[in-house]
Amino acid sequence: MSRDIYELLTRQHNETKKSFDRLFGALENHPEDARERRETGRKLVVGLITHNDAESQILYARLMKFEHLRGQVEEHRHEHEEANAKLMTLLESNAEDPEWLGKFREIRAAVEKHIEDEEANLFPQAKKVLGGRESRMLAEEFTYLQDLRRNLMQPA
Ligand SMILES: [Fe+2]
Ligand SMILES: [Fe+2]
Repeated sequence: MSRDIYELLTRQHNETKKSFDRLFGALENHPEDARERRETGRKLVVGLITHNDAESQILYARLMKFEHLRGQVEEHRHEHEEANAKLMTLLESNAEDPEWLGKFREIRAAVEKHIEDEEANLFPQAKKVLGGRESRMLAEEFTYLQDLRRNLMQPA
């Protein structure tokens, strides 16, 4: 049986948390590893922007059909927009810049809170209204859209 949307999103959340740990652990203590810091940072930013976009367009759009979830979904969508605006500025800034890690630190707290709320509240509520078959279809649609978005973000 193929994976469902929650499994897929939760796995990406865990990868995101690991990348933040890496940025603030190993890489913060080794300023000489600028290239690796830049690559880890870029991977994290692209992964997160495309995750947020596809999540809004696939899962959130579906959940907006349920009136009792609408307020909560709108709040989450707003958090995606705020995070993505900040993440886009990080894509354009220099990893050697001393403020670069500081900007990641600001974003990290908000992103981790958002992820926690999604896993503890939104996903369990979504599971109550969406069936297993639909949850697996949403995973496929999510992957398709995220890949498209990721290709558009690759540097020329
Ligand atoms: Fe989200
Ligand atoms: Fe998410």
